[in-house]
Parts: sequence; structure tokens; C-alpha cells
Amino acid sequence: MTQTADLLLLDTPETVDAAAADDYDRRAGHFWDKFYRNTQNRFFKDRNYLHRECPHLLKEGANILEVGCGVGNAVFPLLDYNPTAFVYACDFSPRAIQLVQADHRYGCGRAKAAVSDITAASPFEFVDQTQIDICTMIFVLSAIQPDRMRQVALNVASVLKPGAGRVYVRDYARGDLAQQRLSSTARQQKLAADFYLRMDGTRAYYFTEEALLQLFEDSGFCCESITTIERQASRAMAALILACPAVFTGATVLELGSGSSPLVTLAALRHCRSVVATDGNPAAVQLLLRNLCLNASRVVIERARVALLPWGDAKHLSKLLLMIRLV
Ligand SMILES: C[S@@+](CC[C@H](N)C(=O)[O-])C[C@H]1O[C@@H](n2cnc3c(N)ncnc32)[C@H](O)[C@@H]1O
Repeated sequence: MTQTADLLLLDTPETVDAAAADDYDRRAGHFWDKFYRNTQNRFFKDRNYLHRECPHLLKEGANILEVGCGVGNAVFPLLDYNPTAFVYACDFSPRAIQLVQADHRYGCGRAKAAVSDITAASPFEFVDQTQIDICTMIFVLSAIQPDRMRQVALNVASVLKPGAGRVYVRDYARGDLAQQRLSSTARQQKLAADFYLRMDGTRAYYFTEEALLQLFEDSGFCCESITTIERQASRAMAALILACPAVFTGATVLELGSGSSPLVTLAALRHCRSVVATDGNPAAVQLLLRNLCLNASRVVIERARVALLPWGDAKHLSKLLLMIRLV
């Protein structure tokens, strides 16, 4: 997440009309169920880091509630790392819950998974224990329509141990690369401020720390700690290019979604014949060009082109293909 991204995201207007947005909200469960029909348990990786980030999950005999559990990528590591915990889990996708229940690890006798919509009234009736020690919400709040998030927080509060229950939330931050892509695509994908429709009909909200804090404080919680994790994907990609000269030497490279950082382009220019760097956002393209000019010699820049390429836009794509032939 970068400050530049913040600047780029400010002025994007909402583009999905209200009736269509309501329809996506009404059918949210359908789209997630379809997502799991297509991906089964292959999409998300097991969340093996949760107990390190939140040691309370290792408490002896903890009753844990994992809401929006998907196919159990948090559930099974939690059972593994805390052999004395009982994990309740729910998701509104019946297919996801079937996959959790079909996993051999579910047979340990310390888990109970049920289909439930966490935005509904009393969604946790399947939880026999009303005294949950800790509730985990891993990339789930972002899938909820913003005006229903408060109901979710209140629902969670209702099953936690009074005065001692905790919530561990991990979710997308404003300025995430995926948000930049969603806000710069040619398709109409913005539902509301920081809330977007993905191609598969599922939705994603990108939080500021302030928005997340306010949501929980308004629902009776106080915050123990909050952190924004920043990983520069461009840094890792540049390192990879520099480490593999044989793959890139003499090649013509098309870079998609460059953003405003020239790092990847500059790394590629070390070995490649030419690089065409593209982004769907006009402001990002202008900044990228400026950053390149400030950071590379004329001789190097002559082998680079910078172009606007909104995703899925055939007109721009043909212009671009012509440009690649000219470099
Ligand atoms: C990005 S996935 C994360 C899954 C899981 N927490 C993990 O760590 O892999 C978001 C999950 O939230 C679920 N979800 C979205 N809205 C929900 C709702 N209103 N009630 C219950 N589950 C919901 C989706 O079905 C999906 O499985």
C-alpha cells in the first residue's frame, strides 16, 4: 500500500447503478457459492500465521469462532496449532461448509461448522457455547455491504465473553494493488466508496484503519492494536527479474498494472530489448513516465514506452500492440 495509491483513488466515481448494486447484495451468497463451486478448496492458502499474529488463539481450552470461514483455511490451522481449542465456524455458502465438513481434519471432534449469514439477526445459534473467547474474521468483513458491517460487529459482540472476549480481524487495506486495479478497469466496478464488484460477482471493501476502528468502537469494542501491513510487490518482482537475466535477455516485455513505480520497468530494462509499461489509470501513467525520466538515463529510456491500458479495453490494446512493434 502506498501514498501514491491514495492519491490515485480519490476521484473515481461510483459506476455500478443502485439497482444493480442492490441485486449483487441480495445475491451475495449465490456468488460466493458459485465461487466455491468453481474453485473448491484450491483458491485460498491455509492461514498458518494466525497464532503468531494473535497469540490469544493459543489459549488453553479456547472457544474460537471463525466467521465467514470459507473452506476452512483458518479453521484447520487453528485446530492444529491449538490442540485444546474448539473451533466453531460458519459461512453462508453451503458448498464451502460442505467442503469444511468433508475434510478429514474436521473429524477431530473439536470443530463445528454451519451455514449461516452473519448479517442476519442471531446468526450464531449453532454455537452451543455463548462464551466465545475469540472470534476471527479473515478477509470476511470486506465482503459485506458497508451499511451491514455494524450488524456483523454487534452479532459477534453478542457471543463473546463479556469483558474478556476478543476479535481478531485481518482484511484488505485502502490502496491495495487489487483496489487500484478495480478502480482503473474499463468495466463498471465501483459500488460505493472503497467498495468494488469483482468479475465473479463477489465484492471487496478496502479499509482505512480509521474506518475499521470506528466500526468496532461504535459496536462496544476497544482496540488493543491495529497495524497496516505493507508489501511492495514491485520490489519483489524487480528482484526476481534481476535474479533471472537468462529469462529476460533480449526480450520485449509488456508490463501490466505498473502503477506509478518505475522499479520493475527499470529492472527489466537491464536485460530486455524493450519494455512497454502499462496501467489503466491515466494519473498513474503520467507519474510513471515522470518517475522513469527522473531515474534513468536517456539511452535507457529510449528502450521504454509507457501506455494507458484499461483492462479489457480492445481499442487501447490494438494501439498498444502497434507500439510494441515500434519499440
Ligand atoms: C475472502 S473469503 C475468506 C474465507 C476464509 N475466512 C479464509 O480465511 O480463507 C470471504 C468469505 O466470507 C464469506 N461471506 C461473505 N459474506 C458472508 C455473510 N454475509 N455471511 C457469512 N459468510 C459470508 C464468503 O462466503 C467467503 O467464504
